[in-house]
Amino acid sequence: MFNSKSEVRKQILAARSGLTEVELSSKSDIICEKIINSGVFAGAGLVLCYMDFKNEVKTGGIIRGALSSGKRIGLPLVYKDGMDRRLLAYEIKDPDNDVRKGTLGILEPCSERLYKINAGEIDLVIVPGVAFDIHRQRVGYGAGLYDRFLQNLRPGCMKVAIAFDIQIMDMVPAETHDIKMDAIITETRMI
Ligand SMILES: Nc1ncnc2c1ncn2[C@@H]1O[C@H](COP(=O)(O)OP(=O)(O)OP(=O)(O)O)[C@@H](O)[C@H]1O
Ligand SMILES: [Mg+2]
Repeated sequence: MFNSKSEVRKQILAARSGLTEVELSSKSDIICEKIINSGVFAGAGLVLCYMDFKNEVKTGGIIRGALSSGKRIGLPLVYKDGMDRRLLAYEIKDPDNDVRKGTLGILEPCSERLYKINAGEIDLVIVPGVAFDIHRQRVGYGAGLYDRFLQNLRPGCMKVAIAFDIQIMDMVPAETHDIKMDAIITETRMI
């Protein structure tokens, strides 16, 4: 392997931080539309979607689209217990009032008064990440949070990553614990 994961993260995050607000918004709109118009989305009753921060693909369109078409929507929360960190999922009904700032300033569900979703209930996960490749391998931020969460999904639950074109590489470093995506959607491609 030519690049380590940390080199890949550095390189792609630098490129992504160079996108302007107009580029981020217009590309995110295209990506959200593609998700909302997909058969996988149409068939999903419960969607787990991340809340974007910094220059990630903006997910507001997906969350609003899911709620307005009567779907259940869950958001992840980083649960910390000593050294143990993992993702939990909670169902929200109101994207303005059911969230608050959590780890790193990312909006998280108000867990104490919301329904805790079991991983096995989810039909579609919208997965964030730093870098992806044409084999649908994924490099995230380096905590293994999504790798551990995604391994508990029911068989048949779809794992769809969304990313900008600049986040797609020919090949990213992959380890045995890295969970492959079922699809990756960018503003111009579907992988
Ligand atoms: N299924 C797993 N079980 C136990 N540990 C894991 C598992 N998946 C990942 N890890 C641990 O997490 C660490 C980080 O993994 P990795 O570099 O793949 O992160 P990442 O995919 O970038 O992060 P994330 O999934 O949070 O976006 C690894 O060193 C590994 O030890
Ligand atoms: Mg990984």
